[in-house]
Amino acid sequence: MKIAVLGTGMVGQTIGSKLVQLGHEVMMGSRDADNPKAVMWAKKEEASQHAIFGTFANAAAFGEIIFNCTLGSASLNALQQAGVDNMKGKILIDTSNPLNYDGDIWTLTVCNTDSLGEQIQRAFPETLVIKSLNTINSNVMVDPGKLDEKTTVFISGNSADAKATVNKLLHDWFGWRSVIDLGDITTSRSVEMYAILWRNLRQATSSQRFNIKVVAS
Ligand SMILES: NC(=O)c1ccc[n+]([C@@H]2O[C@H](COP(=O)([O-])OP(=O)(O)OC[C@H]3O[C@@H](n4cnc5c(N)ncnc54)[C@H](OP(=O)(O)O)[C@@H]3O)[C@@H](O)[C@H]2O)c1
Repeated sequence: MKIAVLGTGMVGQTIGSKLVQLGHEVMMGSRDADNPKAVMWAKKEEASQHAIFGTFANAAAFGEIIFNCTLGSASLNALQQAGVDNMKGKILIDTSNPLNYDGDIWTLTVCNTDSLGEQIQRAFPETLVIKSLNTINSNVMVDPGKLDEKTTVFISGNSADAKATVNKLLHDWFGWRSVIDLGDITTSRSVEMYAILWRNLRQATSSQRFNIKVVAS
């Protein structure tokens, strides 16, 4: 498939590399057409000849499916740059968290009665926004087998068809075996607020490689 990865940080690079290694064509998007991180990423993956880069708009136009891997507090801005028309009718897998990193204690820029997932869906009503993967470190996102046990990833979104597609992609591409559909896009609130617990767990365990496992009787 042709896939857009919007974002040049750890998440964009990790997801982009995994998808290229799986044989997909990936365009990494950024504010600048020749962002140095995107250039270096494409060079690292050049053997595949399937790693290219461009602006957010170039990538969104290129991708059949789009990953939002941008800074949460800037995601709406980045997606506006990607362009409403370039994202129309496409699935947008939103990995972002609306975090404010100022100071030792992280806070959320939106929470309780709204979420970034919902803000994105409202701003792009003709895009199929599916919140997922935001509860896990980037390395675990694309390789849950790195953990000692089978753990859980969540999906939130308004379209049942789009969620079924993302569920299958998470399974086939990344190896997720336990995917819980939380419901419509308003359920982005809970997984975004989990980011604060994730931060506390990261500090308490001195590790980024962990996840939660939902166990029922
Ligand atoms: N790191 C993780 O393991 C992890 C895990 C779960 C969820 N997340 C979430 O995933 C997202 C990506 O995280 P990350 O650590 O890979 O990268 P990041 O540093 O949070 O974001 C990098 C991207 O944000 C874009 N950006 C920054 N400021 C911008 C602005 N003012 N306007 C438009 N775009 C802007 C950058 O654009 P340029 O390319 O132009 O510089 C870059 O592509 C975040 O929302 C994060 O909360 C991260």
